[in-house]
Amino acid sequence: MAPTLSNELLLKAVEKFDTPLYVYDEERIHFQYSKLLHAFHQSDVKIFYACKALSNINILRILQKLGSGIDCVSLNEVQFALKAGFEPSKIIFTPNSVSIDDYKEAVSIGVNINIDNLEILRQFGEHYGSSYPVVVRINPHIMAGGNIKISTGHIDSKFGISIDQIDQILKIKSQTQIKIKGLHLHTGSEIKEVDVFINGLQLMLELSKKFEELSIIDLGGGFKVPYKPDEKGANIDELGMRLHETLSKFETDQHKKFQIWFEPGKYIVSEAGYFLTKATIIKENPTRTFVGVDSGFNHLIRPMFYDAYHIIHNISNTKGPVKQYNVVGNICETDTFAWDRALHEVSPGDILLFNNAGAYGFEMSSRFNSRTRPAEVLVNKGEMKLIRRRETLDDLIQGQVL
Ligand code: LLP
Repeated sequence: MAPTLSNELLLKAVEKFDTPLYVYDEERIHFQYSKLLHAFHQSDVKIFYACKALSNINILRILQKLGSGIDCVSLNEVQFALKAGFEPSKIIFTPNSVSIDDYKEAVSIGVNINIDNLEILRQFGEHYGSSYPVVVRINPHIMAGGNIKISTGHIDSKFGISIDQIDQILKIKSQTQIKIKGLHLHTGSEIKEVDVFINGLQLMLELSKKFEELSIIDLGGGFKVPYKPDEKGANIDELGMRLHETLSKFETDQHKKFQIWFEPGKYIVSEAGYFLTKATIIKENPTRTFVGVDSGFNHLIRPMFYDAYHIIHNISNTKGPVKQYNVVGNICETDTFAWDRALHEVSPGDILLFNNAGAYGFEMSSRFNSRTRPAEVLVNKGEMKLIRRRETLDDLIQGQVL
């Protein structure tokens, strides 16, 4: 059974640390990581946690101790990873739209480099020649993912080098002697279909025939987690089996073996995270009943940005009559967490819990409307530890030059 935090413990966390509050369950992170290890145990697979999902260094340390690698999209994320104790060889640097300067700094640290455009591939090759083998991100022209904003592998996406431009990669390779040790793709987030990953793998295996020194295929992240009641996530056990079958067949036919990398973010931390807010007002309008909370899209942007659904529970009243509410935030523009949501009757002061808030929750928070960002708490086997203090007015003013 997947570990979950009880309402009782979450209410205690609120008593101690107030709302709005993010709470993460260390046991659940261990559980998710071990499910990945189990699913892929038959193949040579390495996991690189995509830390853009949740980058608090205390969380990164958990993954580091579990033996995970880490996928970083900025030099600051790389610095966080180093602080958390990751060896450079266990860090992948996967930026996009950055200049060669960022790559040079990453090389000086010694991390794995993932290049996502022809221009940088050429500049990198001209500078380093064959001395620093790289991974190249391919855009496979695969449409996948929960919605268009989180789909990254389709033909019109800004990510990767088009699969139709392989000849140009090969030309740069022969002109600069750059060594390509891996091919990477990431088609999007919230991918449920195992076929998407297997089709991507097949494409990369086919391409690998053109890159003699290739030893790594990186299939990115994007494993779906269930957000709605009764929704199913990606079946990673089935993916593990089909991955093994596909690789074994290729090995028999072509006498070539690859190490497979995955970069899951959501899968590892989403369900380990809880977001807690307090109901401030109940507003009965002629057409709707609104429950206003002491938070907004500045703290959890997913519903407004992606039309994302997060399960909400009134954990102060788990038995009363059920009513329909629009759950809204306090930001001065349309700021809706949930439309027409059935909740046990809400009174001012009740605590509303949002599930599945570990990934891209705090991480995408902002100080819009000059509101401070929430505190973060880590729970390990019932013990609570503050891992980010609540911001104050001073934090908002600090840095302004008056
Ligand atoms: N690798 C690469 C290259 C990525 O761009 C991403 C996510 C991942 C791995 C991890 O994907 P995951 O396993 O977390 O789905 N903010 C959006 C999700 C955007 C994901 C961006 N890239 C959301 O809240 O749904």
